[in-house]
Amino acid sequence: MPSFPVQTPQRNYQAIVERGALAKLGDHIPAKAGKIFIVTEWDVWNMHQGPVLEAIQGRPFQVIFFSGGEVNKRLVSVEALADQVLLGGGDRSSIVIAFGGGIVCDTAGFLAAIFMRGIPVIQIPTTLLAQVDAAVGGKTGVNLAEGKNLIGCFHQPLVVIIDPNVLSTLPDREYRAGLYEIIKCGVIADASLFEVMVREREAVLAQHPETVDRIVAGAVRIKAHVVTEDEREEDLRRILNFGHTFGHALEAETKYSRFLHGEAVAWGMNAATYLALRCGILEQSEGRRILDCTASYGPIPSLEGLSAAALAARLQADKKTIQGKIHFVLPEAVGRVRITADVTGEAVLAAIQTALAA
Ligand code: GLY
Repeated sequence: MPSFPVQTPQRNYQAIVERGALAKLGDHIPAKAGKIFIVTEWDVWNMHQGPVLEAIQGRPFQVIFFSGGEVNKRLVSVEALADQVLLGGGDRSSIVIAFGGGIVCDTAGFLAAIFMRGIPVIQIPTTLLAQVDAAVGGKTGVNLAEGKNLIGCFHQPLVVIIDPNVLSTLPDREYRAGLYEIIKCGVIADASLFEVMVREREAVLAQHPETVDRIVAGAVRIKAHVVTEDEREEDLRRILNFGHTFGHALEAETKYSRFLHGEAVAWGMNAATYLALRCGILEQSEGRRILDCTASYGPIPSLEGLSAAALAARLQADKKTIQGKIHFVLPEAVGRVRITADVTGEAVLAAIQTALAA
């Protein structure tokens, strides 16, 4: 099974994609590490603690539970987690294991980044979305009421352990939400991965192991490459935000309670596709392929009651807004995107309206 090198100025490490990799966790914990703090969610721990406990046998550890949910991804939670680490005897030799979905990976990663000015973290993502996106690349942070991930920093992990076995217990909706991030990888950089998502839809949805392993590895390969090229999102890494500018606006407008992140990204990819069509940089037929592909993995929750004007206003609060200009990642064809701020407000509003009505 593949392992993808992520090479950054901060740290070089592997993103390992392997069935059963969880059982090998012990090989990745430095011998000199002190107490291990596993930050996880109740249901994840109940279902998957076995191999983790076996792997850390004989080492001091403590499990800290964190209620997932975008609403809990806040600074106050990080402080509460840090208190528990401190009370549990955490010091500079401690390490954090982030064992859960994207929210756990982001929040526990941020905890590790700032606890005593930084201790190591091992990322073990347990949702598809976290496996193919959140856990790889060192982005950590929490939300502000005004928008997602507005506080945070880059803190690269020691290793990312991606074990597709854990996906079998994921609720169908969570699994499908993660698939949209894989479609995203296909649109931004890998037309053949996109084709797999189109052609092998049934095997993907039925979680045939060989197909799941292939698409997860395909997405992680792209993520590892992009992060290696541009850790700090100064250039190439911005392509990973395809669908996210609109998607974050949708999540914030619905108070993080109606859409899973991947679902919001799916809608955001549609909006970006409509915008690219409107700007004349994408052929109709290519646009149709993207829209059909996202629709084939739907449905996403209802868009009823949402105002295009309110969503357009939300775009301004996005991190990708630079000196008042919103930078959009727009598809030019399946497998290729362009980053541009050269779009009119009218075109953006119209794209949102079309995506809301579709
Ligand atoms: N989720 C986008 C990135 O890691 O850059």
